Amino acid sequence: MAANTEPVAADAATPASGWIEERTQGRALAAALLHVRIPAEARTLYFGGIALFLFGIQVATGTLLALYYKPTPDAAYDSVLFMMSDVSFGWLIRSVHHWAANLMILFVVLHLLRVFFQAAYKYPRELTWVIGIGLLGITMVFGFTGYLLPWDQRAYWATVVGTEIAGSVPLIGDQLLLLLRGGVDVTEATLSRFFGLHVLVLPLVLGGLLAVHLTLVHQLGLANPKRPDPRGRPPEGKTVPFFPNYVLDELIAWYILLALLVVLASLFPAGLEAQANPLETPPHTKPEWYFLGVYELLKLVPRIVGILAPIGGLFLLTVLPFLDRNPEVLARRRKLAVGTATVVLVAGIALTVRGFSS
Ligand code: HEM
Repeated sequence: MAANTEPVAADAATPASGWIEERTQGRALAAALLHVRIPAEARTLYFGGIALFLFGIQVATGTLLALYYKPTPDAAYDSVLFMMSDVSFGWLIRSVHHWAANLMILFVVLHLLRVFFQAAYKYPRELTWVIGIGLLGITMVFGFTGYLLPWDQRAYWATVVGTEIAGSVPLIGDQLLLLLRGGVDVTEATLSRFFGLHVLVLPLVLGGLLAVHLTLVHQLGLANPKRPDPRGRPPEGKTVPFFPNYVLDELIAWYILLALLVVLASLFPAGLEAQANPLETPPHTKPEWYFLGVYELLKLVPRIVGILAPIGGLFLLTVLPFLDRNPEVLARRRKLAVGTATVVLVAGIALTVRGFSS
């Protein structure tokens, strides 16, 4: 990389760009980052890149929302109302934030499924996968903590139910509930905690993990879905340049996503119910769609099974690259892994659909 090579004297187009080049050695950095080759057969379906783009949108819109949001039970609701009605384009910014949050979870899950079905979690990408599971977990905690912030009835009671479920985890449930709520009930203390997590802790942790994730992707290159990486030797097969081929395709996908976000936000703006009232329980409280499957499972099986099944599932998913010793990457030669995942996926979708219609 640039730090280990002789600094290059600038022969740039303008004196200004030459001045910057001499002081940054930026061309060497760009070459190291962009001028790599990827397998011609690699098909990422753009999902990972779209998740990255949506995270960028969340940081940008979230920063704007934070300029007006007030994280106390007395002021939170009114500050959101003010943004929606009085701040120029406030409704659009909040609605884009709402839709990008949902789409980010969807695309992170689609990205995980793509990586799984193409067996891209196998040698040498085991750590990329494990860090990816951390990214998925943090993305969902982002959704859970953000949901409370408007402090309306739906936000308040979904948080009561969600933290109650966390309180049923064997052995550590009671402590977990107190830790999440900052006390016995959902109060001002809960709102402060969720706000701090949502705007400070989670963005820092997600940003850090993402930097490691993408560095590993860069160092190892993309997986070839047709053949496994040979151990101790460079991957074989035809390659294509990452830049401009892949980068331009990805930018087109981002552009389409941006248009979709604006259309969704304009046609279906983020809603706001009545201000939270801890004394008035609404008739039906449902979590967001990405927790609906687990919520539905809890109604169908004994509580302890409903709690332990997703925790066990997440653990198995994390250690998958170390459990699955089959070196094959083609789906037809991975019948056990692909068959099990398909059954779990269909069950998860069926539970979520049941949750919507019940
Ligand atoms: C915030 C969430 C995430 C972001 C922004 C992200 C981003 C990316 C990007 C941009 C790539 C390059 C290839 C592509 O576009 O698909 C990638 C590759 C990869 N990701 Fe993620 N990722 C996230 C979560 C996950 C999750 C949940 C998993 C799985 C548990 C995962 C596992 C992997 C693996 C194994 C690769 C290498 C794939 C290959 O070589 O084909 N990532 N990720």
